[in-house]
Amino acid sequence: MPEPENEAELKDDAACGVAPAPPCTLVIFGAMGDLTKRLLMPSLYNLAGGGLLDQDFSILGVDHNDNTDAGLRSALSEALEDFAKDPDSEFHADRIDPESWGFVRERIHFLKGDFEDPALFAALGERLQDNVVFYLAVAARFFGSVVEGLGKAGLLRQTDGAFRRVVIEKPFGQDLDSAKALNARILKCADESQFYRIDHFLGKETVQSIMAMRFANGMLEPIWRREYVDSVQITAAETVGVEERGGFYEPTGALRDMVPNHLFQLLCMVAMEPPNSFDAEAVRNEKAKLAEAVKPIPPTDAVRGQYTAGRLDGHDLPAYRDEHNVARDSVTETYVALKLEIDNWRWAGVPFYLRTGKRMASRRTEIAVLFKPAPFRLFEGHGIDPLTPNVMRITIDPQHGAATELNVKVPGPKMRIGRVRTSFRYADFFKNQPNVGYETLLYDCMTGDATLFQRADNIEAGWAAVDPLLKGWPQADVAFYPVGSDGPEEADALLARDGRHWLGLDGETD
Ligand code: BG6
Repeated sequence: MPEPENEAELKDDAACGVAPAPPCTLVIFGAMGDLTKRLLMPSLYNLAGGGLLDQDFSILGVDHNDNTDAGLRSALSEALEDFAKDPDSEFHADRIDPESWGFVRERIHFLKGDFEDPALFAALGERLQDNVVFYLAVAARFFGSVVEGLGKAGLLRQTDGAFRRVVIEKPFGQDLDSAKALNARILKCADESQFYRIDHFLGKETVQSIMAMRFANGMLEPIWRREYVDSVQITAAETVGVEERGGFYEPTGALRDMVPNHLFQLLCMVAMEPPNSFDAEAVRNEKAKLAEAVKPIPPTDAVRGQYTAGRLDGHDLPAYRDEHNVARDSVTETYVALKLEIDNWRWAGVPFYLRTGKRMASRRTEIAVLFKPAPFRLFEGHGIDPLTPNVMRITIDPQHGAATELNVKVPGPKMRIGRVRTSFRYADFFKNQPNVGYETLLYDCMTGDATLFQRADNIEAGWAAVDPLLKGWPQADVAFYPVGSDGPEEADALLARDGRHWLGLDGETD
């Protein structure tokens, strides 16, 4: 349990010497969209509460629907109140602090415009000066045209020390070719250093803490390599289905939606070499080197799955094919499992197994490092399979924490080996900071720290690894799994082939 003084040491960010971000205007394209309401506004509210926004910070919301400053302010206020009450939302607050929300609210302004109309960019030019962050909270088909619009209107030119930055959401491309084309298109309009490609997994506290865990503990790094590690499992299991996103999900599927982006970020964090510093380029260079070392994944090393009707948390739930905006004969995958290999000195020969799926038995996002068994069967016949490996599980959802499984002696006169777990949850040691996951990302792009954002080469390397799957996977080759299960049997067979099995989604090692 935490030492009481641990808590006392924790002060809010401003008190800990974290300075407010420099003054800037945050231009949000898609000001009335879901992302703005669900994540950006709660994050700005939390940043304001932590004293991390400058007095001269302001927001200019752009949308193609009619609105006014007052109208947008009250719509976003209502949404914030609603999300605070919704137990399923990312934003939790017993009450909205009027001072923090007032700070954000009075800085919100509205501009109507069509994202593809040069008149919008001319109007923006009239209203903007000095530092600006352009946030593209819009459908991916607008990314290229908005950046071009900004570029042509001269709004990406950085003069007199002022910055102009562009935040781009995912999905960044649909495959390697389209990602390359989009990178080429936007890089004609501004320098790479001005683009902040978001992967919201990198805003998760535990994901960032993987670096701290690896590189701030002398005992871990020496064993974090092929000599000691048997295999690594990276899981992002969700209980939610496709919800109202069938239109987006049908042409996308689990592989594109989760693997080259979110799961690859976890992979990079757990497998990259130590950077020379926490400088953005140093970290991103290491991630790039790692992603480039990932061997292209052949279709024979992957399984696509789709959920059929089943029961989850006491509810009967429909099959994917019966979801809204989904074709009745859809072969889109809602689950994917794959094995990948990393061709470098540290990881040669160590398989990395990745899986993600919707409507699975439980929500669990984690990285599990399975260590090689002890080299000598000294305890054979003493109550435990000598091959049971030590496992370190770094959990991101549902609880931020880590657990290590060890073999110990069972108390008593005879030598018997039993299995125990030492674990910690962040919540037991540190005050829970209000966080919907975008606070750090917004603060970082205002302060110009690109460490947690993806460079063009990082994005392309992720797509390159899955490209053979996208091109070579027979579309009809989809395995079915019932809602509320651990995924299709074919995914178990993928590991059984190598004499391994998936760890349980309940956090227990089977
Ligand atoms: C999004 C995907 O990027 O990430 C969703 O489009 C997915 O399909 C989500 O549900 C998962 O994120 P989180 O933070 O809920 O684990």
